[in-house]
Amino acid sequence: MKLYSKILASGSYLPAKILSNKDLEKMVDTSDEWIVSRSGIKERRIVADNETSADMAYNATVDVIKSSNIAPSKIDLILVATSTPDILFPSTACLIQRRLGLNNIPAFDLQAACTGFLYALATADAFIRSNSYKTILVIGVDTVSRFIDYTDRNTCVLFGDGAGAVIVQASDEPGIICNEIHADGSGEEILHVKGHIYNGELKGHPYMAMDGKAVYKMAVRNLAEVATSVLTKSGYSNEQVDWFVPHQANLRIIESTAAHLNISMEKVIVTVDIHGNTSAASVPLALDHAIKNGKIKRGDLLLLEGVGAGFTWGASLIRY
Ligand SMILES: CC(C)(COP(=O)(O)OP(=O)(O)OC[C@H]1O[C@@H](n2cnc3c(N)ncnc32)[C@H](O)[C@@H]1OP(=O)(O)O)[C@@H](O)C(=O)NCCC(=O)NCCS
Repeated sequence: MKLYSKILASGSYLPAKILSNKDLEKMVDTSDEWIVSRSGIKERRIVADNETSADMAYNATVDVIKSSNIAPSKIDLILVATSTPDILFPSTACLIQRRLGLNNIPAFDLQAACTGFLYALATADAFIRSNSYKTILVIGVDTVSRFIDYTDRNTCVLFGDGAGAVIVQASDEPGIICNEIHADGSGEEILHVKGHIYNGELKGHPYMAMDGKAVYKMAVRNLAEVATSVLTKSGYSNEQVDWFVPHQANLRIIESTAAHLNISMEKVIVTVDIHGNTSAASVPLALDHAIKNGKIKRGDLLLLEGVGAGFTWGASLIRY
């Protein structure tokens, strides 16, 4: 019998503090009108001073476990996509394993910036198809605000914090139909955080730096291409997609990709207006939002996609 992986349930967590465009107007030379017209973002969430990536990831985990109705002891692998771990090591995944009281199951982080969740989902799917694990907790979490310079208007208006999670389980029917992930390391200079610890000292610029226009162009080109590729490989057409769940970086990138794919905006899940760009959390947050508000239903065909620093990008076609 052929093995597939199925998304059993989703969960999410958002910090309580809302940072609105009006708030940002008081911090940098910007305007609500500029931010909304260029990005579609109206507000984003920011962690409390004492809140961490592990805290958000754990809260999203509690939510997904509740929705899935499975015992945490069934989980046999934890994958966390993040580029903002609270500490260099142990990994965020190990911190979550401990908080769940699970011993002796593998747990690791993987880093592909805003594409992290797509990379983690593809990894979970490969582990399930190879019959290595049966029930995998996949989390996307980022505390981007800790790496943002709130005097830099080029970046500070675009990002927010959050966590999303899914439980992926072995199944004899799809499930995840097709994943494709890509990277092009020559994109390093257009989006990065170069700060690092060297001999006990912080070296390099510790905040995000971005060439917005270059990122925009790279995103639009690669997203349309990878989404078309997973559809073609799987023998599905764009008309069969019930919901397109793109990375929530910028409404104009989302609209442009949807137009390239000939998918109507009525079939696109949009949360960028209320979440901003939450990096690896963006896709699972959007997915969970749409599942909880009843848009996405069991049996729907979902097209997920992500893009981010690296440059990295990817897409997944999923029967929910
Ligand atoms: C960043 C982005 C919104 C800028 O939009 P844009 O259409 O390229 O910007 P425009 O050309 O209209 O405007 C640029 C001008 O606005 C200014 N500007 C930048 N941020 C601003 C802000 N928050 N408020 C007001 N003005 C701002 C710039 O300084 C520049 O001014 P100049 O022309 O005097 O030099 C857009 O390029 C983008 O979304 N890129 C992708 C970013 C992204 O998604 N990154 C994460 C990927 S995972």
